[in-house]
Parts: sequence; C-alpha cells; structure tokens
Amino acid sequence: MDLELKDKFFLVTAASRGLGFGVAKALVEEGAKVTICGRTKEDLEAAQNSLGERARYVIADVSKEADIKKLIDDVENVYGRLDGLYVNAGGPPPGTFNKTSDEEWRSSIDLNLMSAVWLTREAQPLLKKSEHSSILYSTSISVKQPLDNLLLSNSIRAAVIGMMRTISTEFGLIGIRVNAICPGYIYTERVEQLIQDTDDKTAAKQEIIERIPIGRMGTPDEFGRICTFLLSPIAGYIHGALLLVDGGMYQGMM
Ligand SMILES: NC(=O)c1ccc[n+]([C@@H]2O[C@H](COP(=O)([O-])OP(=O)(O)OC[C@H]3O[C@@H](n4cnc5c(N)ncnc54)[C@H](OP(=O)(O)O)[C@@H]3O)[C@@H](O)[C@H]2O)c1
Repeated sequence: MDLELKDKFFLVTAASRGLGFGVAKALVEEGAKVTICGRTKEDLEAAQNSLGERARYVIADVSKEADIKKLIDDVENVYGRLDGLYVNAGGPPPGTFNKTSDEEWRSSIDLNLMSAVWLTREAQPLLKKSEHSSILYSTSISVKQPLDNLLLSNSIRAAVIGMMRTISTEFGLIGIRVNAICPGYIYTERVEQLIQDTDDKTAAKQEIIERIPIGRMGTPDEFGRICTFLLSPIAGYIHGALLLVDGGMYQGMM
C-alpha cells in the first residue's frame, strides 16, 4: 500500500530515541521529510545520522512554550507547511499521591499537557496549509486503565484525550484530523530504565510480559509503522479516535 507520504513534511517531537524515533524512522522510510526535536544535541545528531538526509533536528524542550514557538518558526522557515505532527514528550516521574509534590504536578502538566496545547496552537496555521494534515497525540494505555505508581501519567494523559476528542469537531471542519495513540509496553530505554529501577529486574520484566496476551513487548519500529499509517492520508476517515497498541494488554470491554 502506498501511504502517499513521499516528500510530505512532518514534525515528530521528543524523537532522538524511543517511540518518537520509531515514528520518525517509519515516516522517513515512506519518503517523508521529518524534523525531530529533543533536548540533547549529541543524541539528536546520532538520530539524524541514522535517519539520513530526509531528517533534520532542532533542539527544543517541549515543556517550554518559548522553545515550541522557536521550533515551529524553524519548521515554517524550512518547510513552509506541515502535513503531520506527532505530539510526544518525555514521561512524568513515577510516584504515589502522597509522595507527589505540587511542583511535580505543575512541571508534569507542562511536559505532558501544555506541550500538546502549545504544539497544537502553534502548528495549526502550518497544518492548515496542507491538503491532508493530521495530528497524532502520543498518550498511554493508562488513559484506559491506570498503571501502578504512575499517578501523574494516569491523571494528565487523560486530559490530552479530552482535548483531542473536543477539538475533533473544530479541527475536522478545517481539514486537520486528530487522533491519539495509546501504547502499552513498547521496549525503549525508558521501559528498560523502569525495569532496572526495580529490585529484581528479571522478575520485573517477566511480570510485564505475563500481562501481555501476545507474550512480548512491542518494538519502536512496529509502533512507528502504525503511527505512520494513522498520520497518512490513507487513514483519511479516522478522526477523533484512540488506538491502543498494547499486544492485547487492556482487558476492558470498551
Ligand atoms: N515505551 C512505552 O512503552 C511507553 C508506554 C506508554 C507511554 N509512554 C510514554 O511515551 C513517551 C516516550 O516514551 P519512550 O519510551 O520513547 O521514552 P525514551 O526512550 O526515554 O525517549 C524519550 C525521548 O523524548 C525526548 N524528551 C524527553 N523529554 C523531552 C522534552 N521535555 N522535550 C523534548 N524532548 C524530550 C528524549 O530526548 P532528551 O532526553 O534528549 O530530551 C528522547 O528522545 C513518554 O512520555 C512515555 O511516558 C511510553
């Protein structure tokens, strides 16, 4: 299937590694031109080298509105329009209610909710210039089912879904599709770190895998290809939707 992405312009945030990198890689493999961002120059350089000449990078911290404005200005200067935006950021710290400070709540809201608000607002004029454009919000299985010890992620990502579902009526009319992707366990450095932080690493990994009916974690490559389909014009009638990519881990009926 041709996803009709050749020479289309995309922005993938938080993409020097992990899920964002998987999405950027799949887009580039389909012939798209992709700008990635992150906070660490060396990691971005390495990512760009691996992605090749269709990729470029901008150093930007998506938890800062000023960085997002500069990032979008840069994309406008180089591309002139955007055909798609993958909204991603780092994860908030783990913790339970009584161990989470107001400062952690506020900084995590900036990281995982306000980044989505600012990116949506700033990128909108560029997305409107495309014939078929789309925003894909990266959230988590936690919007369907809270995960242990991840209070901030469980709480804040649900607000992104609320925003996405609400703006789908406004944005559908101006030709911008919006959807959300909800990963379960995709094996990235973040997941490896969460495992390393436990007392019994082998047992922790086994425990995760036992909760996944398909019997393994996903890979950033397969995750990236699914996101690329959703971002492409081929998925033109998928709008306001949430898609779980979790190997069957979510067991609710709806
Ligand atoms: N992997 C999973 O199974 C899974 C499941 C559900 C949800 N998630 C969520 O998906 C997101 C990505 O996870 P991942 O597993 O891909 O993590 P990862 O392997 O740690 O990669 C995170 C990427 O985001 C960048 N980043 C972090 N904070 C940033 C910021 N403030 N501004 C710009 N870039 C930033 C990092 O680069 P720098 O550090 O250099 O900025 C890196 O490129 C996280 O929010 C995570 O909680 C992951």
